[in-house]
Amino acid sequence: MSVDQAQIQMQRLMLRYPSGKTALSGVTLNINQGEFVYLVGESGAGKSSLLKMFYGGIRPSSGTLMVQGTDMRQAGDPKVRELRRHTGIIFQDHRLLFSRTVFENVALPLRVQGWKTERLIPRVRKVLSYVGLGDRLWSYPEALSGGEQQRVAIARAMTAKPAVILADEPTGNLDVDTARRVLDYLMDLNRQGATIIMATHDLHLLESHPGRVIQLHAGSLARGGS
Ligand SMILES: Nc1ncnc2c1ncn2[C@@H]1O[C@H](COP(=O)(O)OP(=O)(O)OP(=O)(O)O)[C@@H](O)[C@H]1O
Ligand SMILES: [Mg+2]
Repeated sequence: MSVDQAQIQMQRLMLRYPSGKTALSGVTLNINQGEFVYLVGESGAGKSSLLKMFYGGIRPSSGTLMVQGTDMRQAGDPKVRELRRHTGIIFQDHRLLFSRTVFENVALPLRVQGWKTERLIPRVRKVLSYVGLGDRLWSYPEALSGGEQQRVAIARAMTAKPAVILADEPTGNLDVDTARRVLDYLMDLNRQGATIIMATHDLHLLESHPGRVIQLHAGSLARGGS
């Protein structure tokens, strides 16, 4: 991929769910490597649907979607799996495995890539200290606060050094100070080169953590196109 090529390209991108609901209707937009993007818009605007298409959780109905050079309408399962290895995903409800320790949750993306335990231990320790949880390796998620669980989810999303981090309302359940700290981490990863795309309703975060704002309204682009 050439350097000036956008990392995510959309042309007249449409998504219609099997129920018949049109969630996105003709979005044309480019997101470049290294951008920090806020995806905003009212509930039901299509933010989560768009993020889902970015990681191949759902296929576009029509139009074009290229992610890191992959045509997401044509890509088969192996290609989608390969792409996900370079993508960190953070959900609002974090989706940690409650039967596994913090260490194992964060190690998971590396295990999927076939890393041996001895090799992944230092990496997992490093990312967990980075989010301030270096002393909680052997805790189970249920023993952590909501903000700490969210930080484990961030650590998990960053372990494999992804080129893109997709975050769907990662601060939705957090108090303002914890939300700001989560943003500090994401901004830091962005400075290290990762593209961050984050769906949020927390517009006040923009004051302390500026970024490009892409606004959806009823499945269409309302602001922030390129
Ligand atoms: N699996 C699904 N099947 C059918 N319709 C869906 C499905 N998921 C979402 N939708 C619909 O698609 C539209 C966009 O939903 P989406 O979840 O992308 O919105 P959102 O912007 O993320 O909203 P919120 O801020 O509430 O999370 C909504 O009208 C929603 O009801
Ligand atoms: Mg959503």
